[in-house]
Amino acid sequence: MSLPKPGPMSLVPFVSVEGMMQLILQQGVEGMLVDLAAYIEDDFRRWEQFDKTPRIAAHSPEGVIELMPTSDGRSYGFKYVNGHPKNFQSGRQTVTAFGVLSDVDTGYPVLITEMTLLTALRTAATSALVAKYLMPKGARTMAMIGNGAQSEFQCLAFKAICGIDTIRLYDIDPNATQKAVHNLQGKGLTVVACKTGEEAIEGADIITTCTADKQFATILTDNMVGSGVHINAIGGDCPGKTELHRDILTRSDIFVEFPPQTRIEGEIQQLPEDHPVTEFWQVVTGATKGRTSDRQITLFDSVGFATEDFSALRYINELVRQSDAFQKLDLLADPDDPRDLFGMIERYGRGMDAA
Ligand SMILES: NC(=O)c1ccc[n+]([C@@H]2O[C@H](COP(=O)([O-])OP(=O)(O)OC[C@H]3O[C@@H](n4cnc5c(N)ncnc54)[C@H](O)[C@@H]3O)[C@@H](O)[C@H]2O)c1
Repeated sequence: MSLPKPGPMSLVPFVSVEGMMQLILQQGVEGMLVDLAAYIEDDFRRWEQFDKTPRIAAHSPEGVIELMPTSDGRSYGFKYVNGHPKNFQSGRQTVTAFGVLSDVDTGYPVLITEMTLLTALRTAATSALVAKYLMPKGARTMAMIGNGAQSEFQCLAFKAICGIDTIRLYDIDPNATQKAVHNLQGKGLTVVACKTGEEAIEGADIITTCTADKQFATILTDNMVGSGVHINAIGGDCPGKTELHRDILTRSDIFVEFPPQTRIEGEIQQLPEDHPVTEFWQVVTGATKGRTSDRQITLFDSVGFATEDFSALRYINELVRQSDAFQKLDLLADPDDPRDLFGMIERYGRGMDAA
């Protein structure tokens, strides 16, 4: 007697880190960033269809673990993600993630996937999408401050989506900058390694800050920021963790994903609760304007919102089914008689005894 096999409804497609790398290589990093940005833009355009809640965060002295759920009524998605700035000291990533997409009608998961690589891609795609609407006309140069895990993805997204051709890199750790210089070689960008933040922002139309430190840091001071630039602030994404001096905020027009989450986690945690901000989805739908003058400082106070991960899950779910870059996980119990969950164990046990 052979052991009962997992039933067809027990199997859920699973994209491992290796599977995700295969998908990225198949599409090309820039191709994937462009496709992802289109999915993210579509979901911002239908923003009002989504259930939205600030992410659920469990804080500890060294970091945070967060759950990020949302649904459009047909599909439900969530991401598990951590943020631990000191993890690199033990050879670990600052940010790791995985996620699930489910069918709302049955509640059954349809995809489970790694999301560490996918988060880097979706964060970069979102940043560049937002900049496409807000950056000064003819922007060509970006300062990239913080050259860690997210940084090359950011640079390539701004190249592919915004037409940036020059990147000026700075990190307090020169090894991080050298790593990024190496990784960006031959990618069609002019890459300049800088020794200070001030040097990096010289001539930059866009300034991206993507550092990791669990404190109120000052990566940019007020005197560093001239009129007309677009700031893409990625690393301030947790209570007590910001990157920009408060005075920059009061000079900028601030664009956010979901205000109830950004007010807790973003740069604007430094400002009064009623400080005016613009919700990015309204720029996408045309309900409100993005950049209105050459001299205006626009600031994307990015914290990362659940709909962006939902878009990424939706994209991977469609992409992976046209490939073999996934395995089938025996994840859901599928007894012959759906009410006989207990009996399934007994039948399995009898099969074990007979084998
Ligand atoms: N907004 C979002 O959607 C989003 C998504 C993913 C990650 N993040 C955040 O982005 C940040 C970067 O993530 P990562 O995975 O690249 O982290 P990482 O640890 O790999 O890299 C961070 C880099 O910042 C550098 N750094 C720290 N302090 C600095 C300073 N004062 N000046 C210059 N450089 C400095 C470090 O040396 C390091 O190289 C984290 O804070 C993370 O939480 C935000």
